[in-house]
Amino acid sequence: MKIALAGFMGCGKSSVGKVVAKELGWKFLDLDEEIERVTGKKIREIFESGGEEKFRRVEREVLESVLNREGNLVISLGGGTPTWGDNLSLLKEKALLIYLDTPFDVLWKRIEGDRERPLASLGKEKVKALFERRKKFYEEADLIVDTSGKSVEDVAEEVLTAF
Ligand code: S3P
Repeated sequence: MKIALAGFMGCGKSSVGKVVAKELGWKFLDLDEEIERVTGKKIREIFESGGEEKFRRVEREVLESVLNREGNLVISLGGGTPTWGDNLSLLKEKALLIYLDTPFDVLWKRIEGDRERPLASLGKEKVKALFERRKKFYEEADLIVDTSGKSVEDVAEEVLTAF
């Protein structure tokens, strides 16, 4: 079985995913790290050389291969993963999809100025508009966890209640 954590940049997908995986005794995989491992390039470099289109093609390929692996896995997705092409239906078919719902102002404080996140450098208004456009995709998840004011451990506990 696969658990996939979704949500905007900075919502804590990787931190929470690691705790959830540890609690369950499952493996953990960060999709962005897997993309970097497979391509031998940083996410930022993929964006720089081929733009977002190129990044999304690679992301889709890696997503498919990860979801088709044998065994249990907790996966932290990239912020845009469930919002692109038909990734959402693939995720719903192959994984339990969980959305970590965090208010924009909290996210912005965490991602502002992060040069490794190409889309975070678009400026606050554009990033906020992106967040608003993405919500409807995230809200298709099987479980929505409100992370407001909660520690990583608390959020992980809530994710674990889905079992
Ligand atoms: C992206 C989020 C990033 C990474 C890439 C694109 C996005 O992942 O996949 O920079 O479209 O929101 P994180 O959500 O882990 O920062």
